[in-house]
Amino acid sequence: MKREVKILLSVSSVTGNTRRLADYFYEKLKECTVEMIDVRELLKKDKVPEADIYIIAFWCRKASMDFQSRAFLERLQGKRVFAIGTMGAETVGHYGNRVRGNVEALITANNACLGIQLCQGANRPERIEFRRNLPPEDPHHIDEETYRKKMDNQGRPREADMRNAWACAHDRMWDLLEE
Ligand SMILES: Cc1cc2nc3c(=O)[nH]c(=O)nc-3n(C[C@H](O)[C@H](O)[C@H](O)COP(=O)(O)O)c2cc1C
Repeated sequence: MKREVKILLSVSSVTGNTRRLADYFYEKLKECTVEMIDVRELLKKDKVPEADIYIIAFWCRKASMDFQSRAFLERLQGKRVFAIGTMGAETVGHYGNRVRGNVEALITANNACLGIQLCQGANRPERIEFRRNLPPEDPHHIDEETYRKKMDNQGRPREADMRNAWACAHDRMWDLLEE
């Protein structure tokens, strides 16, 4: 039986990593009424569609949410928002915490934050090559070890990354829904 919960899943993705994560969530959420919409379509609408929970699937830009997801978030007031994101850097440690902190601050400005789940996503190989070839004094230069790690991340988020993200999100959202 379908749960009486309406979920709007907004998706922003340039190279497909976040789209894959959002597709995974969409499949798992089918016991609810869930609508998945590209953020560019959402931004064209005069009115934000009503939902009980808004899931924003974003890609990380400048250690925060991409600009279009942010523009959509700015249209939400007093809603319950869960964010799922992909990023090129590792999701654990200082940098991952910084991204989570930045995204949480954006959400809680006008809405309730149900949680934030991050997955590592592949960087484009040409971008990785480009950064490797920058002069070492350039802040975007990457050394050989980072180069190899980034190349090894092709194909992410992987099944295991998405399963883990879903397990954490599921616990968080369902607890709240059953309050
Ligand atoms: C212009 C640009 C800026 C980015 N900035 C960051 C960043 O600040 N931190 C990070 O970890 N990844 C950054 N990335 C990497 C993307 O967040 C990552 O590859 C993401 O998975 C892309 O998602 P998509 O395939 O759905 O577009 C950046 C990528 C681009 C193209």
